[in-house]
Amino acid sequence: MLDLTSTLPVIDLSALNHPSQRSLTLDQIQSACKELGFFQVVNHGIPLSIMNDALAAATEFFNLSLEEKMPLLSDNVHNPVRYGTSLNHASDKVHYWRDFIKHYSHPISDWIHLWPSNPPSYKDKMGNYAEAVQVLQKQLMEVILETLGLNFGNLHNEIGEGNQLMAINCYPACPEPDLTLGMPPHSDYGTLTILHQSGPGLQLQDNNKNWLSVPFIEGAFIVQLGDQIEVMSNGRYKSVVHQVTLSAENKRLSIASLHSLPLNKKIGPAPELVDEQHPASYNEFSFRDFLDYISSNNIEDRRFIDSIKKSA
Ligand code: OGA
Ligand code: NI
Repeated sequence: MLDLTSTLPVIDLSALNHPSQRSLTLDQIQSACKELGFFQVVNHGIPLSIMNDALAAATEFFNLSLEEKMPLLSDNVHNPVRYGTSLNHASDKVHYWRDFIKHYSHPISDWIHLWPSNPPSYKDKMGNYAEAVQVLQKQLMEVILETLGLNFGNLHNEIGEGNQLMAINCYPACPEPDLTLGMPPHSDYGTLTILHQSGPGLQLQDNNKNWLSVPFIEGAFIVQLGDQIEVMSNGRYKSVVHQVTLSAENKRLSIASLHSLPLNKKIGPAPELVDEQHPASYNEFSFRDFLDYISSNNIEDRRFIDSIKKSA
């Protein structure tokens, strides 16, 4: 069988600083965004020690007794900090093999006091990581908008002041890995998700609905386009559908930093990308609209983005 996974794009971000390599790198990013809504990045400027420290803090957090994590337990998707299991424990028809902690993270001074105070190093290590990833997010948004021919200047403030939700996931080893998933197929709601993982398990769907396993590259970040980019690009770029598979032997941790424009900011197709040949294909939505949708709908029945597509 053809090994499609070995062709998944890996982008060397340092090449953007070399005038002779910049335009080729922009082309690589553009193709990855068009074809998959996914790529990995290396030479991104974030030290491995910051990445490893954040995973270590997450490991310690999940190792705490259930009693210590219980005070953060919540099914309310509007809570800025919450611990949970599965996808949405209250409404899932099947239970997924996952524990998670989610917290708002930007600007950090607004939220950090709400984060777990155990392990004692959590705030420091996860805080350093969150701030570093927020900087990377701005750089990536700038180049992705450039590849769409959009003016970053217009969006600069909103991208800088946008929402950063960190979803820190723990997928314990599973005795029957073929019978369930860590997370069911979904796309992320925001602009970009920047993901750091401790090992393999993530899969994404290509245009032909094949599931491709994402190769594990130490020190790389996974970048996934979310629904806000698909809408902004008027469908030129696609948000990537992904899922998490399990292993019988290994526990897996991941830290997904989900970025979006500010909570109440409505996003529609960019006017520059709408014309007679390309009529606006989506209604506007905000991150808050997405949260309201998932409070009362099961995304396994219908993806959120399908609810805002204009019927032709
Ligand atoms: C998510 C997600 C993937 C992973 O948190 O939205 O898709 O590998 N996580 O944990
Ligand atoms: Ni996701």
